[in-house]
Amino acid sequence: MKKDITFTMIKPDAVKKGYIGGILNKINQAGFKILSMKLTFLSQDEAKEFYSIHCERPFFNDLISYMTSGPIVAAILEKNNAVEEFRKLIGSTNPEEAAEGTIRKIYAESISANAIHGSDSDENAIIESNFHFDENEIYDY
Ligand code: RTP
Ligand code: MG
Repeated sequence: MKKDITFTMIKPDAVKKGYIGGILNKINQAGFKILSMKLTFLSQDEAKEFYSIHCERPFFNDLISYMTSGPIVAAILEKNNAVEEFRKLIGSTNPEEAAEGTIRKIYAESISANAIHGSDSDENAIIESNFHFDENEIYDY
């Protein structure tokens, strides 16, 4: 895919609390175009693969339990400078440190249950998008 994209997941805590609409509204207002989106569920193996970079970290098991505790919304988003712009919109990993108006500041409950994921590089945005979506599920409009 040649487009400037990032990948996001609205995490189980935010889905359970009914924040999907509020979070999508922030994403739309910030000028991201949704190219793919689905409500889905990560298996243990999928969560472990998705977050394999953190497998040695002390919080890894808690992270896997949390990410498999309920459905998520997975989406591919397009915007100029998508990865960096989206990380700005979601705010710091720890909501206590997140800037006012960011998604995590408004919707996250803790550093572990922090409402939303955003890719950290263009390369990972493509890997993560392909992990969740087939090419024919990515819409060009
Ligand atoms: P994400 O990958 O989900 O967008 O989050 P991030 O880049 O801001 O943070 P990262 O360091 O990649 O951590 C991945 C996720 O692991 C959980 N975490 N818990 N208890 C803790 O100290 C801790 N640290 C990280 C969070 O769910 C974080 O988003
Ligand atoms: Mg990360």
